[in-house]
Parts: sequence; C-alpha cells; structure tokens
Amino acid sequence: MTTSPSNTVLAFDVYGTLIDPFHMEEHLRPAFGERARDASELWRGKQLEYSFRRSLMKKYADFNQCTAQALRFVCAQLGVSFSEETLKELMDQYLRLPAYPDVPAALQSLAARGFKIVACSNGTESAVRSLLEHAGVLPRFSGIVSVDHIRTFKPDPAVYEYLAAETRAAKENVWLISSNPFDVIGAKAYGLRAAWVRRDPKRAFDPWEFEADLIVESLGELGDKLNIA
Ligand code: LAC
Repeated sequence: MTTSPSNTVLAFDVYGTLIDPFHMEEHLRPAFGERARDASELWRGKQLEYSFRRSLMKKYADFNQCTAQALRFVCAQLGVSFSEETLKELMDQYLRLPAYPDVPAALQSLAARGFKIVACSNGTESAVRSLLEHAGVLPRFSGIVSVDHIRTFKPDPAVYEYLAAETRAAKENVWLISSNPFDVIGAKAYGLRAAWVRRDPKRAFDPWEFEADLIVESLGELGDKLNIA
C-alpha cells in the first residue's frame, strides 16, 4: 500500500513537544526567586528520572505521582518548603500548562491534510486530555495513547508496541513526533518512524546508534518535511 496521509499516524509526545513544562518557572518564582528556572529544570529532570526508574524497577506509579514526588525532591534539594496547599496548587497548574505557540496552526493544517493524529504520552489520559482541552487543540486528536493503560513508561518498547497496536497501523506508517531525544530513540529502536522537534537549537541529540528520520525546529515545518502527500 502506498503511504498517504490517511494511512499515516502522527503520534505526538505531549510534555516538551506540545505543552511547555518549563512554563512552571512562572509559578515557582514567588518561592524560588532567581532560582525558578533551575528549579523548573530540576523538576522536569527528576520527573523523567523517576519514570525511568519506576519502569526499570517495575514499580509503576502514574506520571502525576512522579511529578509530585519530583517537586518534593526539588523543594528538599533547594531548601524551600511549601504547604500541602501550595503543592496542590502547583500540581493543578501543571494541568493547565500552555501549548507552544506553533501547536494550534500546525495541528490544524496536518489534520486538514488527513493525517491521523494521536497523543502518545507518559501522562495519564485524564491529565493529557485536560492539557489538550485547555490549549484548545483536543478536537484535532483522534485518540490519546497513555502509558497508564499498560503501567510502564516510555522508552519501554512495550509503549511503542502499544501505540502501533492501538492505532492499528503498520510500524512504518507510525511517526512519533517528540522533542525528547530519549523518546525518539525509543521509537526508532522499536521500529517506528520518528521526528525530533529540536525546540532548543542548543540541544544536542544523544550519540547512540539510533537517529531521527527527520529533524524540525518547530511543528510548522513538519507538514512539508514529512514528504507524504
Ligand atoms: C510525555 C513526556 C515524555 O509526554 O514528555 O510522554
């Protein structure tokens, strides 16, 4: 079968690709002051580390728990204490993080061309739904593939296998679109196609034996560069 938009799945990673987790810096500033950016980066790094460790240890707890425990770690590490109420408010803010500015137009144009668009995230289905809804892009998605259903995290190959099975597409017709190099490498290692969204031009890609099929600096470039008509 020839490749066309209608038999091609574009599976978008969520945090860091569609939704900006570093926007939390703004909400951390009252407590962390000048260290708010560092705190948001440490928070994101620990959140991912906790998800990787939980997969390896087979001690699944959902991504909200990884995020909340990572925030407690950041507070302990940087010597800031929050009330339980403030911690809860920050976690609520995490469900209302904004999309990157290029997201709505890019999704609209890809959907109009007939690509099948899904989200594929370490986040729970309900967290991802609320983020996409808040960003006004939920109607562009025909499905949300959340790792929560199989209780492990990317880059476990089981997740990419689950993505291909859920979308009922041949591996070579499934594109994982992600700004996270570990995710691109995970998808390629399983046998899917992958595009790396290099949102930060200073960001290096891990020098492993897997490379992205495509590199874009913003989602607006994706439609032309995919070269599928
Ligand atoms: C996600 C994380 C990896 O959305 O950013 O899956």
